[in-house]
Amino acid sequence: MYKIFIKPLLFLMNPERAHYFTFSCLKWVLKLPGMKGLFGNLFCSKDARLETVVAGIRFPNRIGLAAGLDKDAKMVDEFAVLGFGFVEIGTLTPLPQPGNDRPRLFRLPEDAALINRMGFNNEGVKAAAERLRCRKSDIIVGGNIGKNKITANENAGDDYEKCFLELYNVVDYFVVNVSSPNTPGLRELQEKEPLKRLLIRLQKLNAVLEVKSQKTEVKSHPDGYRELEVKSKKAMGSRKPIFLKIAPDLTNTQLDEIIEVVNESGIDGIVATNTTISRDKLQTPNDKVNAIGAGGLSGKPLTHRSTEVIRYLHQKSGGKITIIGVGGIHSAEDAKEKLDAGASLVQLYTGFIYEGPALVKKINKKLLGN
Ligand SMILES: Cc1cc2nc3c(=O)[nH]c(=O)nc-3n(C[C@H](O)[C@H](O)[C@H](O)COP(=O)(O)O)c2cc1C
Repeated sequence: MYKIFIKPLLFLMNPERAHYFTFSCLKWVLKLPGMKGLFGNLFCSKDARLETVVAGIRFPNRIGLAAGLDKDAKMVDEFAVLGFGFVEIGTLTPLPQPGNDRPRLFRLPEDAALINRMGFNNEGVKAAAERLRCRKSDIIVGGNIGKNKITANENAGDDYEKCFLELYNVVDYFVVNVSSPNTPGLRELQEKEPLKRLLIRLQKLNAVLEVKSQKTEVKSHPDGYRELEVKSKKAMGSRKPIFLKIAPDLTNTQLDEIIEVVNESGIDGIVATNTTISRDKLQTPNDKVNAIGAGGLSGKPLTHRSTEVIRYLHQKSGGKITIIGVGGIHSAEDAKEKLDAGASLVQLYTGFIYEGPALVKKINKKLLGN
């Protein structure tokens, strides 16, 4: 239905407009009586065998929505009825910012790919936190955080810290994004020393917030510690898992350094990968690709490289690093390959645009062996 009727219409529209149009339609349709139940039946797979615990969080299934599609946390409840096990919001920055000039999102249908140079357009972390406080579903939410374009790299830590503080009580895990190609200089933060400093700083803040939130809970709870013991980890506002999102363009030496940084900072894992700056082996004619210009490439051309990165990190770390795999998942087989390569969870973005929401259920079915 999506691929035959909806996608051809959406693909007639400008890609960014199609994105907002689809969001509004979905919001509107799901307000109609009975629609949430119908969508739930169509797209959700409820089966205890799909559940998994990663970084101390129980996920109802392994398929998540990747960062960038719901940057401002406006659609979290809607994505919950499309069968996702978790949703990653962001990248959010402390201050709202408009992002780069339009056009900044391009389709490459011959390659089942997208090129984007959005540039962290978002309404700011405070607005997203407020929305998350009012959400109705209890879907697992990851908070992907970054820095404002106007913030110099030497002050980037302040931006990440502000976002972390603002989102601490409304997300289940964090992703530190230092790998978007569309914020000038951002990827320099992937270098070993600045990255280690940044992650250790967030880990310290994480520890302080954990103690603080537990004290507040104990003080305010009538039954004190005993009752708290039986409260869920999530409700207690305990330490939040932190993941690092990396680029697929890193060399093996750089990946080795990332493993060292993850081990030395004690963060929980890696999201591999973001979009690539490479334009290798595309079917789309060169002149069309060149005319699009700068930006991150996502979708099918990324499938192999992101799986390669996942496999490398998994093998080199002796399976000790938790990995969320993302990049070019367009089929159940693609998802399975990433899980087999060492990912504990996977995320979709471009595959969701090209294949539609049925992809989530297809993957879950395959994981159930159906
Ligand atoms: C239009 C667009 C915007 C994106 N914005 C973000 C973002 O804000 N933060 C982020 O970490 N990744 C962002 N991404 C990257 C995706 O989360 C994902 O890592 C990447 O697209 C590879 O997965 P895919 O091939 O399934 O799309 C964006 C991707 C696209 C296509």
